[in-house]
Order: sequence, then C-alpha cells, then structure tokens
Amino acid sequence: MIDVLCISGPSKPLSGRVVVSGAKNASLPLLFASLLTGEPCVFDNVPDLEDTNATLRILRSFGARYEYRDNQVKIHTEKLVSTTAPYGLVKAMRASFWLMGPLLARAGRASVSLPGGDAIGTRPVDLHLKGLSAFGAEFRMDHGVVHAEAPGGLRPAEINLDFPSVGATHNILMAASLIPGRSVLRGAAREPEIVDVCAFLESLGAEISGAGTDEISIVGTDRPGSGYHRVVGDRIEAATMLLAAAVTAGEIQLEGISASILDSTLLLLRQMGCEIIISESGDVINLKAPMELKSISFETAPYPGVATDVQAIFLAALTRAAGVSVIKENIFESRFGHVAEYRRFGADIQISGRQAEVVGVPNLSGAPVEAHDIRAAAGLVIMGLLAEGTTQIRELHHLDRGYERMAEKLKSLGADIVRVPAIDAREVVVGC
Ligand code: UD1
Repeated sequence: MIDVLCISGPSKPLSGRVVVSGAKNASLPLLFASLLTGEPCVFDNVPDLEDTNATLRILRSFGARYEYRDNQVKIHTEKLVSTTAPYGLVKAMRASFWLMGPLLARAGRASVSLPGGDAIGTRPVDLHLKGLSAFGAEFRMDHGVVHAEAPGGLRPAEINLDFPSVGATHNILMAASLIPGRSVLRGAAREPEIVDVCAFLESLGAEISGAGTDEISIVGTDRPGSGYHRVVGDRIEAATMLLAAAVTAGEIQLEGISASILDSTLLLLRQMGCEIIISESGDVINLKAPMELKSISFETAPYPGVATDVQAIFLAALTRAAGVSVIKENIFESRFGHVAEYRRFGADIQISGRQAEVVGVPNLSGAPVEAHDIRAAAGLVIMGLLAEGTTQIRELHHLDRGYERMAEKLKSLGADIVRVPAIDAREVVVGC
C-alpha cells in the first residue's frame, strides 16, 4: 500500500524518552558477512527495515536459511548455492556489492553487477577491486558485471586505500577474514559500523587489531565457526531524533547508543545552542533545545568528521535558524537533491557546486513533498515539524529503508504525525 506521512506544524516542543534502533549501516554488512561461514550466526538489535528484509531475501538466494523476529536474526548458510549477484539485486540495494568479499573468500569466485549511480551520486568500486586484487583476485568486466576469480586462492596482503571508503573497507576485511596469514589495511575507514563488523569477524575466528583506527591488521581463519553480534546503535537515527527535538525547542532523553560515537553531531548541536548532558555511563543523552537555534557551518568528512548521512538533516534544521549557515558536502558530488524539496516550504538555500548557503527564514509553510533518498526523507520530516500547516511526504519507501518506526517514535514524543494510506499516490490524500 502507498502511504503518505502527514505532519502538522509547527510542532509543539518534543519531550520524553526515545530509544534508538540498531544501525542499518552495520546490520547490512554484518548480514552479508554471515555468508563467510557454513555455521549458524545470530545477530541482535537488527532494525526491522526495508533494507534489512531486502538483504535477507538476497541472502536466501545464496542458500541462507533464516528466522527474523523481535530484532533478532538467526541465519545459516550451510551451503552456498550461487556466486552470482545479478543486476536486479544490486540495483535494488547498492550495498549488495558487499557480497563480493564474502563470496570470493568462501567460494573463490563471484560475479556481482556494478551498482551504478543513484540519487546521491556515482558509486565507483575501484577501491574495492584494488584491495581484493592485492589478495590475488583477478577481475574482468563484462556487460556491467564484475567477475572475480582467485585461481590460486587468496593470499594475505598489505593494502593502502587512497580514501577511507566504508564499502571498500568492509569488502576487504570480510575477504581477509578467511585468508590465513596476516593482512594489513592502511587508510581504512574508522566508522563504528566497521568496528561492529570486525567484532563479528573475530567471533568467527579471525584475529583483528586496530578496528576503529586507520590501520587494521587481520589474521584470517580457514575454519570459520559460528558467529554472534549485537548491532551498534544507529548514529544517523540518533542525530535525526536529536534534531527533531532541537527544531521544536524540545527536551528529550535519547538511549540505545553510546555518546562516544556521536561526537561530531553533539558538537554541532551544541554550536546551535542546545544543552547536552551525557550520563556517566555514556549511553543516555539528554538534549534541551533553545527557543531559537543558531546558524552553523560545517563540512562532511569520513568518520570521526560530520557524516554525509546527517548533512540533509542538519540542513533542514538550519532553514529556520538565526543567521546564515554554510554546508560543504565533501563525500558525494551531488548530494543536495533534497534542497529543491526544502525550497517548497519557503526555505532560502543557494547551492554552488558542493556548497550550500542556508539563510534562516522566520516562517516556513507546510507543503506536499517527495522523498528522493533515505536521509532526504528524514530531512523532510524535520521540515514538516518546523513548518506552519500540513506537510505531506510521499515516496515513503525511502524512509522505510532506513528508519524503524520513525513516525511512531516521533508521535510518542508529542509530534502531530500520522501515516495514512493514499488512495493513489497522485490523487487525494485521505485523512491529512
Ligand atoms: C558512504 C559514507 C557512509 C554512508 C554511506 C551512505 C563516507 C566515507 N562514507 O559509504 O558514511 O553511510 O555512504 O550514505 O562518508 N569511492 C571511490 N571508489 C570506491 C569507493 C568509494 O571513489 O571504490 C568514493 C565514493 O564515490 C565517495 C566516497 O569514496 O565519494 C565514499 O565512498 P564509500 O565510503 O565507499 O561509500 P559508502 O560505502 O557508500
């Protein structure tokens, strides 16, 4: 059924307690990594998302059997029944290219379609291939498909990445986890989701040091056992909830995530005028927002810098902040697609190349809008909370890819938000 999200704004101050779900960006590579072993694996705190379900369906086509309930996945790929990921799979979810490492390591061969471009820019895979080639894999491109083979088996290697690509780091580490002998990855991505995957690979039997730094050393195992991991909290959902509270002059308590992996987000929120108190244990974050947010300037960068995934969400919040904010997007070349939709609310945003200049305006008015990617969808929710009148957000499948029960969570904090079925996506919206 096609749904529309209706938000009445401006929202009253959000208040209460909210628990962040497990991270999508850790769950997907973890699930792909379960293909590395013929033994059963269990994952806890897996968010119930479109992307999680799509990943499980993909894994089923490779021979995985699984149960998924109450945020727990029990998965077992006793026998790999295929080493080919056709375009239909990879196109539906770009992260499917992460199949390359596990398939190659376990079966010695893999054929995976190139992901192609999407709403936020081109997604090259040269760094993935460079890393896997160092292990002895040979690649050939044919009709948009990357065919990989390791005729003599994979051997350990020392690899230097020119850029700390998250995807390439996942693929390289997953392959290395089945290669006996020490491999070293320099220039690795340092994201908490990489640390999560490393912990799981260790549970399979790999020995890893340096996860979370730019140099990771890994001694693989040729007898991977069963694996277990509890997924880390979702940094991007946490940022979204904190910003939702911030734009409504609210006061919330956020749980389910360690504040230590939110440093850059918390710094920006403080610069915007929010008071943030972190519990002694580090995993309860209290935010109290001012009546009016201040403008800020920042640029996106690999972790621990400001994540590209929060850019659209901060940008939305800044449309009504006092003053002028400047945001530079350094990770993807065309990740300002949301700006056209934000302008429909009356936002004053100028784009020049990779930079956006946002002039805070005193009023925004609710509008019918469409989401074009996951984080843009979350940004539209923030706009809906800020704007006067009703906002209707369509193309909610983007939101569903990355946020578990978002409307429900915001409603529990006091937002006037409701998800209603649309009779037809292009026709009248019932109930708004
Ligand atoms: C990126 C983000 C990640 C975010 C995800 C979804 C970074 C470093 N990564 O991860 O935080 O959750 O998008 O929005 O912020 N690149 C190459 N060659 C490659 C691989 C990547 O040139 O082989 C380039 C990409 O074009 C891009 C940059 O490196 O400009 C980041 O790529 P990468 O980290 O691999 O992207 P994702 O894994 O999608």
